[in-house]
Amino acid sequence: MQTLNIIGAGRLGKTLGRLWQQKGLFQLKSIFNRSYDSALAAVEFIGAGQAAESLESMAEADCWLISCSDGEIAVIAQRLSDKLTERNDVIAFHCSGALSSQVLEVLRPASIASAHPVHSFAEPLHSLDTLPGSSVALEGDSLAVSALENAFTALGCEILTIEAQHKSLYHAGSVIACNYLTALIDLSLRSFAAAGIERNSALKLLEPIVLQTAQNNMSLGPEKSLTGPIARGDLETVATQVENLASVDPQLALHYRQLGLACVELARRGQLSDESAASLIELLSEPMR
Ligand SMILES: NC(=O)c1ccc[n+]([C@@H]2O[C@H](COP(=O)([O-])OP(=O)(O)OC[C@H]3O[C@@H](n4cnc5c(N)ncnc54)[C@H](OP(=O)(O)O)[C@@H]3O)[C@@H](O)[C@H]2O)c1
Repeated sequence: MQTLNIIGAGRLGKTLGRLWQQKGLFQLKSIFNRSYDSALAAVEFIGAGQAAESLESMAEADCWLISCSDGEIAVIAQRLSDKLTERNDVIAFHCSGALSSQVLEVLRPASIASAHPVHSFAEPLHSLDTLPGSSVALEGDSLAVSALENAFTALGCEILTIEAQHKSLYHAGSVIACNYLTALIDLSLRSFAAAGIERNSALKLLEPIVLQTAQNNMSLGPEKSLTGPIARGDLETVATQVENLASVDPQLALHYRQLGLACVELARRGQLSDESAASLIELLSEPMR
């Protein structure tokens, strides 16, 4: 069985470490975190491995997972480079969505890769059950990519291979859908609050329609899922909403108009006439007073 070291066993590292250990895919060796107590807690969660007091004291391993925060990956790679120069069959990888494997370049002749699970590791105990079925975007050297393809497939993940130069755009895609959706819910709650609807009632009201909209998008695609005043070309309704939002919260009105323009662009690919689209664009682009 291949051996695995983890540098930065936080939410993601602990989850993967425990799943791979349980599946008998890797034998856990050393775990190094910023604090020794945190490394001890990770060992306890994973149920295997040994907490290391320093990076230098970590055991040898076939595979190194660098799952500290993104900003620390290059620093750790630099510190690790002296340790990994002797073998050319060692694999080193990180799990950042934004960075490519190039950030591990100093670790050559090790085989380097990045493997980004499209999953929110908010709560490791929960992720143990919910990670299967998630996609993992993989890129890097062939030895590392092939080993990681096996390792993540064994966890029930879907593999998506991408090019290193596309990593940032790929990550922006998931930022827009996931992080911006959260920002949209917040904007929606602000609008409900202005209408005197308190947060819990608003969330209850939103839950079925937001989940249904997400499901429609997944099964029908955005073009066929867009409903509402912009899709219908209802200029009057849009104008009244812009005006009312501007009177209670100008910033909210600005976001409404910016996102409205994206909706017009989408609606044009559906039923919206060129004439209605032009009027909506004019209305939504007007400078704010
Ligand atoms: N969380 C997600 O949903 C998610 C999803 C996909 C990809 N990722 C990627 O996974 C990686 C880890 O994210 P995470 O959410 O698991 O982070 P996290 O929970 O904050 O854990 C980071 C871990 O790294 C350790 N660490 C930080 N700096 C270190 C250093 N200089 N030396 C040694 N250990 C260090 C921390 O140690 P202490 O505990 O001692 O502070 C902590 O255990 C990131 O690259 C992230 O982009 C995360």
